Amino acid sequence: MRILLTGRKGQIGAQLAALLPSLGEVAAFDRQELDLLNLDQLRRAIRDVQPNMIVNAAAYTSVDQAETDEQQARIINVDAPALMAEEAKRIGASLVHYSTDYVFDGSSSLPYAETDQPNPLNVYGKTKLAGEEAIRAIGTPHLIFRTAWVYGTTGRNFLLTILRLATEREELKVVHDQVGAPTWSQEIATSTERILRQLSQQGRDSISKFGGTYHITAASKTNWFEFAKMILEEASRMPRGIPWFETATKGQPLVTRCVTAITTEEYPTPARRPSYSVLSNSRLKQDFGFELPAWSLQLRAVFAEGRPNG
Ligand SMILES: NC(=O)c1ccc[n+]([C@@H]2O[C@H](COP(=O)([O-])OP(=O)(O)OC[C@H]3O[C@@H](n4cnc5c(N)ncnc54)[C@H](OP(=O)(O)O)[C@@H]3O)[C@@H](O)[C@H]2O)c1
Repeated sequence: MRILLTGRKGQIGAQLAALLPSLGEVAAFDRQELDLLNLDQLRRAIRDVQPNMIVNAAAYTSVDQAETDEQQARIINVDAPALMAEEAKRIGASLVHYSTDYVFDGSSSLPYAETDQPNPLNVYGKTKLAGEEAIRAIGTPHLIFRTAWVYGTTGRNFLLTILRLATEREELKVVHDQVGAPTWSQEIATSTERILRQLSQQGRDSISKFGGTYHITAASKTNWFEFAKMILEEASRMPRGIPWFETATKGQPLVTRCVTAITTEEYPTPARRPSYSVLSNSRLKQDFGFELPAWSLQLRAVFAEGRPNG
């Protein structure tokens, strides 16, 4: 199998770049090597590589910035994946793509299923939904994995932001009225590899049969305030010298003494966010026989990374 991977330096992309070579030959690109704003370059890259599968881990992910940068967000999140789907169809390849819990408006109080009606509240969510719809309409065999609140030891994410702020501020104020499932980038990549392996063992057309949209998020739910508190608890027990932790804290001591819960209203952001975006993973369990660990176990596993007895 020949795989073309985009976004190889992103949170999920970097993990995929490490895992996908176990499935086949991988041609992996970062933004400098393949800019999704340049659709001609994208078409040329796909025609050069002639992949059996395109895995698109690149995206416009700056949720607030997208509010004033809709044109670029649309090219990257809609036009580029649509072109990937068209090119994949032309050469008989399949497409693996990622999407977001922010396609939902949060008015539910039960975990969202793949079949629930999306209604994004912000430009980022609208472009991600339009990207999904374009892929479905083109009809090439595809998998769309909707995930949420992605974090890890590299990139831009809530975990690393809280650790940085914890070296700078005695008090942190964090919103408590947005509920979701923080999901470790490594779990998403591992799940992707596991699904692709299962499908490849089932034969050539299995993505046509088992393709479609799947929710892949940590089990259980929390809010940003509780997530921040657990990050600081785990951080307070970290020994010195763990490379990713030293980078996140720039080797500085943690000075935060208290974390205060605030409302979304008290922390206005350019983009509106759903107050509840928990995704049901039942379809994943039913078709592929596994679920991801609870968010708190995932966070503990991240802090165990690189620790001598980790
Ligand atoms: N992050 C989240 O909380 C979250 C939540 C739900 C769903 N998702 C979805 O998960 C997928 C992966 O996201 P992630 O968390 O891994 O995000 P990420 O760390 O921001 O990675 C996205 C990657 O896309 C690259 N990229 C941006 N613009 C590009 C362009 N014009 N051409 C080529 N590459 C470009 C970025 O490059 P640079 O590093 O150079 O910017 C980055 O490496 C996306 O589909 C995202 O929508 C993410």
